[in-house]
Amino acid sequence: MKSTHKINHPINSDNLDILFEPWTLNKTLTIKNRIIMAPMTRCLADDYLVPTQDMVDYYARRADAGLIISEATVIRADGQGYPNTPGIYSQAQIEGWRQVTQKVHDNGGKIFLQLFHAGRVSHPVHLKGELPIAPSSIALDGVVSRTDGFHYPVPRALTIDEIPPLVESFAIAAKNAIKAGFDGVEIHAANGYIIDQFLHWQSNRRTDKYGSTPENMTLFALEVVDAVINAVGADRVGIRLSPAAYLHMDHHQDDVEVFRYLLPQLVKRDLAYLHTGMFDDSMHFDDLDGTVTSFLRKNYNGTLIASGSYSSDDAVRAISKKLFNLIAFGRSFIANPDLIDKIKSDQKLVAYDESMLATLF
Ligand code: FNR
Repeated sequence: MKSTHKINHPINSDNLDILFEPWTLNKTLTIKNRIIMAPMTRCLADDYLVPTQDMVDYYARRADAGLIISEATVIRADGQGYPNTPGIYSQAQIEGWRQVTQKVHDNGGKIFLQLFHAGRVSHPVHLKGELPIAPSSIALDGVVSRTDGFHYPVPRALTIDEIPPLVESFAIAAKNAIKAGFDGVEIHAANGYIIDQFLHWQSNRRTDKYGSTPENMTLFALEVVDAVINAVGADRVGIRLSPAAYLHMDHHQDDVEVFRYLLPQLVKRDLAYLHTGMFDDSMHFDDLDGTVTSFLRKNYNGTLIASGSYSSDDAVRAISKKLFNLIAFGRSFIANPDLIDKIKSDQKLVAYDESMLATLF
């Protein structure tokens, strides 16, 4: 992989307007501008994984975004991978999220919940002493974040009988999200978590119908997509993918074939959108013959959200060239609650700094 150089063309306020055009996702949902707040784990829910008042205020402050995508939200207890990440499986969690969605709606915004299961990217310390579950018993190499140097354990491979209830848990969580007032859900199939673990050869060595061929390796993802569509309707379902194994995953040369099979299947589902999962989308991957977003664009003709170290100028250029339709910003939304106003009026942005993660300003 190598970095591509950015070619600078002048941006003027006319060009900038493209970011502030409404975008119709489908007959159910139109968003007021093309700027999305990327999902970002903050680890500041309470000890029952219930959203707090600070989280209500944090999301409400950013309701000017065309769409907010919530931080990764645990679909059931064995999906937790980090401390104090919110859930969407208990009544108290649903009630807590309802406060968030109400305030975002009061402020004129829209918000999707990101449905998350960590799979092997976890540790018994988060799972009441149990081992994490995964497609295969292959450990992730590395130290578990936010622990005292614990290494990822060898996860327990799911038995085939455990897979349908796991698929159903995604659907129940999606229904709970709608009960909590969300406008829709994003299936987190990116960044090396459980769905992505089925989609990559390094983490999926199954020999049953969920492994061994690209078609089989996409089965779990498609079962989740179909169950979630069945629960809440395709208009309210987006999905995030990381065809490049860039996080919590080792690269395998045949992964690309899995995604070449998956993407046309997703096109048929008529989802609200597809979303790139990347931290730096200027990276070129030889297997993908370009960037992650260019690969997704070639293989998917619906609404595409790019993300990964974009500036607003980069986004204007790329959207004008129809390289994607919507742009998600992450870290700049943490550093600038008023990001939308600042972009609109061409103000200098506050630079993101990791120390900002300690609080929910
Ligand atoms: C993230 N990201 C992320 N992605 C995701 O799909 N679910 C998540 O919960 C998180 N959590 C998260 C936490 C923090 C603190 C950061 C900085 C990032 C990735 C995020 O959505 C986005 O793709 C990247 O931050 C790249 O975009 P920016 O920040 O360069 O605009």
